[in-house]
Amino acid sequence: MHASKLFSPLRLRDLTFPNRVFVSPMCQYSSPEGMASDWHLVHLGSRAVGGAGLVMSEATAVSPEGRISPADLGLWNDAQAEALAPIAAFIRAQGAAPAIQLAHAGRKASTTPPWEGGGTIGTDKGGWTPMGPSPVRFSPSHPIPAVLDEEGVETVIQQFVEAARRALSAGFEVVEIHAAHGYLLHSFLSPLSNQRQDRWGGSLENRMRLPLQVAHAVREIWPKEWPVFVRISATDWVDGGWDLPQSILFAERLKALGIDLIDCSSGGLTPDAKIPAAPGFQVPFAEAVRERSEIPTAAVGLITTPAQAEQTLVAEQADAVFLGRELLRNPYWPLHAAHALGTEIEWPHQYERAKI
Ligand SMILES: Cc1cc2nc3c(=O)[nH]c(=O)nc-3n(C[C@H](O)[C@H](O)[C@H](O)COP(=O)(O)O)c2cc1C
Repeated sequence: MHASKLFSPLRLRDLTFPNRVFVSPMCQYSSPEGMASDWHLVHLGSRAVGGAGLVMSEATAVSPEGRISPADLGLWNDAQAEALAPIAAFIRAQGAAPAIQLAHAGRKASTTPPWEGGGTIGTDKGGWTPMGPSPVRFSPSHPIPAVLDEEGVETVIQQFVEAARRALSAGFEVVEIHAAHGYLLHSFLSPLSNQRQDRWGGSLENRMRLPLQVAHAVREIWPKEWPVFVRISATDWVDGGWDLPQSILFAERLKALGIDLIDCSSGGLTPDAKIPAAPGFQVPFAEAVRERSEIPTAAVGLITTPAQAEQTLVAEQADAVFLGRELLRNPYWPLHAAHALGTEIEWPHQYERAKI
C-alpha cells in the first residue's frame, strides 16, 4: 500500500479530517420555511457513509431575504438549527467533519429553483426585493436591488453571527462563509457590482470591508479549536472586475483574521462572463492563493478522477479538494478512489462484505 496524499489526514486547528475529499456545498432547494428535511439527512448522510472527510451543507441563508429561492435551507431561527442537529450528528458518527456554508444571496435572491426555470419571482408572486451594494442588477431579467444602507450592512453582519451561533448549536464543526458566485459578499468585493462611494465601496479596502467584518465576527464566536473557511470567486472572468491579485490580498487579510482555509471557486458575478471550464480549471487559483497568501486552500471545479485529485495535492496546488457533481453521481466515490489509489480506508462496518 503506497501512501496517498488524498487519503492522508489534514489537521486544521484541533480538527483532523480523516482525508482530503470534501463534499462541495450544493443547494438542494428542498427546504420549506428554510427547514432541513429527510432529504438532507439522506443526501448529506450518504456522502458521509461514502467516505468523504468533510461533508458541507448547501448555502444556508442567514435571513429570509438572503435566500436564492423560497426553498433554500436557512438558519435564521432556532427551529432550523434543531432540524439540522441530527444531520450534523449523523455526519460526525460516520467519521466525517460536519460543515455548513452560510450565505446571503444578495442581488441574486428571490428566484425559482433551477428545475422550475430559475427565473425571478416578483413581489406580487411571493418573492421579495433583492439587496445589493448598489442599484446594479445582476442581469436584465433581475430587478434592481434595494441598496443596503449603513444599518442594513450592520444587520447583515449580525445575521451571519447569529446563523453561525446556531450552526454551532446544531453540532457543525466547520463553518464556511460564502463570499463567491456573485452573492452578497462577493457583490461587495467586485467593482462591477459595488459602485458605492461610502466606506463600503470604492477602494479595494472599502470593498473588502463587509466580507472582512463578517469573517472577523464569525471567527470571534467560532470555537478556537475549529476551523472557519471562506469560499471566494478568485476572478469574475471579466476585465475590470474582481481578479486573482485582489483575491490574494483578500486571502492575506482573511488569514490575519484567523481564517483557516480559502476555498477557491470563480465566476458568478455576471451572466456574460466567458468561463473556460475544463478539468481542474480553477486549481491554479487555489495554487496561487496558497503560495502567495501562505494559507491552506481547497481546489474545486471539474475534479472528477482519483488520479487528478491526488495529483493536485501531490503538486501542492491545494490542501484539499471539494467535489460537487461527481459526488452527486456517486456518493461512494471516496471508497472507490482510495482503492484506485492503492490505499486502504475503512468502509462502514455495515458495508464491509461489499468491500473491493
Ligand atoms: C446542484 C448544485 C448546487 C450548488 N450549490 C452551491 C452552493 O450552495 N454553494 C456553493 O458555494 N456552490 C454551489 N455549487 C457549486 C459547487 O459547490 C461546485 O463549486 C461546482 O459544482 C464545481 O464543482 P464540480 O465540478 O465538482 O461540480 C452548486 C453546484 C451544483 C451542481
